[in-house]
Amino acid sequence: MKTKLKQYIKNIFKAFGVEIHKSGYSNSSPYALGYISAKETIDVSSKSGLSVGDYLETIWDQKDNRYIIIDELNKFGIFNINIKNICEIGTGAGLYAEKTAELCQPVRYESYEPDKDWAEWLTKKYNIISHDADGKSLSCTQTSSIDLVLAHGVFVYLPFLLTYRYFQEIVRVTNDEGYAVFDILSEECFDDNTLKSWVDSEQMFPCFLSEDYIIEFFTKHRFSLIGEFFNHKFNVGKSKYLIFKKESSLT
Ligand SMILES: C[S@@+](CC[C@H](N)C(=O)[O-])C[C@H]1O[C@@H](n2cnc3c(N)ncnc32)[C@H](O)[C@@H]1O
Repeated sequence: MKTKLKQYIKNIFKAFGVEIHKSGYSNSSPYALGYISAKETIDVSSKSGLSVGDYLETIWDQKDNRYIIIDELNKFGIFNINIKNICEIGTGAGLYAEKTAELCQPVRYESYEPDKDWAEWLTKKYNIISHDADGKSLSCTQTSSIDLVLAHGVFVYLPFLLTYRYFQEIVRVTNDEGYAVFDILSEECFDDNTLKSWVDSEQMFPCFLSEDYIIEFFTKHRFSLIGEFFNHKFNVGKSKYLIFKKESSLT
């Protein structure tokens, strides 16, 4: 019975690439949720002759989705030469980091990835600065130092108060005229059909967030919503991307 339950819980997380590990568990924080094993993923993708990104998109049936998302984000002008310092939360296997760095050519790309094996790999592969991630803050990042904060597929599964702590940190670290970009699972992501697909999938990780609440929060802190769009290939449903720009304190 116990084994069956364990397998059931594993399956719930696996379809999203979120796996619970015992062996190879390398999270540095009690607040971190599980993710696929870096060692296994890197090993299997290299044997398959695919890059880690291509390999993961293939097994998740999401081919080229990261490029679709990057193209959508690019329409809002967020990847530009003024982006010198980037900070990504929950960078994972770096699916978005590679293209983001290529487009912005930043001076500094910081990352808070609590899985130590992935964090190490990101540094080796993409020359990213992997900070010690406590799973709830951006404590190694200076106030008003970041031009672009990113979190892909992270606030869709963190408990609300962890997400809220990160929101406070995003407000703190974002420079004037900098951007904050992340996706959420909001009201619009749970229409009847999509909700049925989630229930049928038996996954339990989705964390609902109110878009109005988030807009109000960021607006209160001098950010304006400059764009939004859906990721139509988010697992069995869709997630919603929000793009905020911090106004200058001088205006
Ligand atoms: C579903 S994955 C998304 C990975 C990557 N952003 C992408 O879109 O391919 C969620 C990521 O968040 C990380 N994570 C889990 N708990 C976290 C926390 N408390 N703070 C920051 N990142 C966390 C996981 O290790 C994993 O890399």
